[in-house]
Amino acid sequence: MSLFTHRHDVLILGSGAAGLSLALRLPESLSVAVVSKRELVEGSTLYAQGGISAVLDARDSIESHVQDTLKAGAGLCERDVVRLVVERGPENIRWLLGQGVEFTRDSEQAAAGGYHLTREGGHSHRRVVHAADATGRAVATTLEAQVRARPNLQLYEQHIAVDLITSARQRPGSARQRCLGAYILNLGSGQVETFLARFVVLATGGANKVYLYTSNPDVSTGDGIAMAWRAGCRVANMEFMQFHPTCLYHPEARSFLISEALRGEGARLLLPDGDRFMPRFDPRAELAPRDIVARAIDHEMKRIGAPCVYLDISHRSADFILEHFPTIQARCLEFGIDITREPIPVVPAAHYTCGGVVVDAHARTDLPGLYASGETAYTGLHGANRMASNSLLECLVYSELAAQDIERQIGDIPEPAEVAPWDESRVTEPDEEVVVTHNWEELRRFMWDYVGIVRTTKRLRRAKRRVDLLAQEIIEYYSNFRVSNDLIELRNLVEVADLIIQSALRRRESRGLHYTLDFPNKDRTQRAPTLLIPDSYAPRSRS
Ligand code: FAD
Ligand code: SIN
Repeated sequence: MSLFTHRHDVLILGSGAAGLSLALRLPESLSVAVVSKRELVEGSTLYAQGGISAVLDARDSIESHVQDTLKAGAGLCERDVVRLVVERGPENIRWLLGQGVEFTRDSEQAAAGGYHLTREGGHSHRRVVHAADATGRAVATTLEAQVRARPNLQLYEQHIAVDLITSARQRPGSARQRCLGAYILNLGSGQVETFLARFVVLATGGANKVYLYTSNPDVSTGDGIAMAWRAGCRVANMEFMQFHPTCLYHPEARSFLISEALRGEGARLLLPDGDRFMPRFDPRAELAPRDIVARAIDHEMKRIGAPCVYLDISHRSADFILEHFPTIQARCLEFGIDITREPIPVVPAAHYTCGGVVVDAHARTDLPGLYASGETAYTGLHGANRMASNSLLECLVYSELAAQDIERQIGDIPEPAEVAPWDESRVTEPDEEVVVTHNWEELRRFMWDYVGIVRTTKRLRRAKRRVDLLAQEIIEYYSNFRVSNDLIELRNLVEVADLIIQSALRRRESRGLHYTLDFPNKDRTQRAPTLLIPDSYAPRSRS
């Protein structure tokens, strides 16, 4: 039986850029819980390198940022959403500055307000504001300090949400659907506790741990997407999993990204014999959008049987490199690679989940009372391929929109009534933890082999058969044994893998990040997002 019931006005699941900025945007009169399954700042936000895109230079324009985003998105972006996000960009950067984030300055850039703007793939202007090559750390630690100083915010670290509490499950047949809270495992006590709130926000990040090789930290297990799906929300565009072209290739380097900003500042991609290959694939060469660069690298590695390619910035001065990329230089030096003098071995790795929980222009999901923001949400901004540095921007803008909407509605929403506590009466301690470890490894490997950068229908069907078997096994295990962190994450990863495979099988063309040898061309008739609708979906009446 669950021992505790916590009550708050707003329950935010996740404490990355999306979760923390939302918490800070809400009125201080509200009682807000921020839940994080590890320590507060652990998440993709902390590791973001390149920066945040926004039109800050007088020589740039909103229209140009909109057009670049639409182009990178390969015909699947929602235009209104792109414009909304891009227009909110400058104000959100000012908000971050107001919170105390220190972006890299450049006194010669008066037109850019004195900030250094870098460039990344797909952007036709310099428009990426950054804190050297550790932008995420600057954002995460600054917001963390602000959040810790706010008395209305209660922080629950080392707490992992298991499932959402909905009126449909509590009171089957009830006419009014609503999200009431979440069951959350306190990793310290081992107890599942009940959290009730008038509004719940999913800010749980992406699902990139579904692949064997990823730039992401361990927390990116798609929990929010899986929980929303189980609660009856639609998800969209899950086939568009983004592979970052350049992660460090070294047997001991786990998940270390080599920022696209290196290419923005002139780094070249080379084969082991020094041949520069990107101009053969796209006129924009190293600054083509990510899907194109990652596919080109994958193609060249397979063609010549090389384990990696190389990224070389050593033609820039050592002073410039040390000023702009101190984190990358320091990390590479730990592996004996001096980037001021030699090329960096790199490979593509899973990086970003373009699809997610469908939300409207107020960050509302299909389930009244439930919002989603950040990488867990599908807003329509990224289409078939996210442009670099548009993700942190989307986190900030959608959290701002969610906060405004919650503030508008909160007076009309009563506290949820008591709900049934978490029931553990029919489960026992797990008997064979190896089932979880084994299935976790198997899942991530077959997703990499069969649902990766280049797909075929045969490989996708093979993956579907395997995921179905795993899902059966996990459901059985979940029903019989007490939940643990690893079991919760594996259950969610299997759910999300299934959504990715189903979506990839539906898209019978190649577009953006989804490339299949069976349908190698773009099909103009397939210019719609891939929507998956759960059995329990009930269309919401718009308020
Ligand atoms: P995250 O920052 O991942 O936070 C997720 C939070 O949810 C964490 O606090 C986690 O503990 C919590 N959580 C998850 N599941 C649960 C659960 N079940 N219960 C409780 N808590 C849970 N984007 C850019 O725009 N610019 C960049 O330069 C950039 N660089 C990147 C570099 C790297 C190495 C990576 C990995 C990503 C980069 N991205 C970049 C992408 C961007 O960082 C992410 O998309 C963004 O930070 C996601 O923020 P978020 O708040 O949605 O999720
Ligand atoms: C990078 O710095 O290359 C990552 C940027 C991003 O994912 O937006």
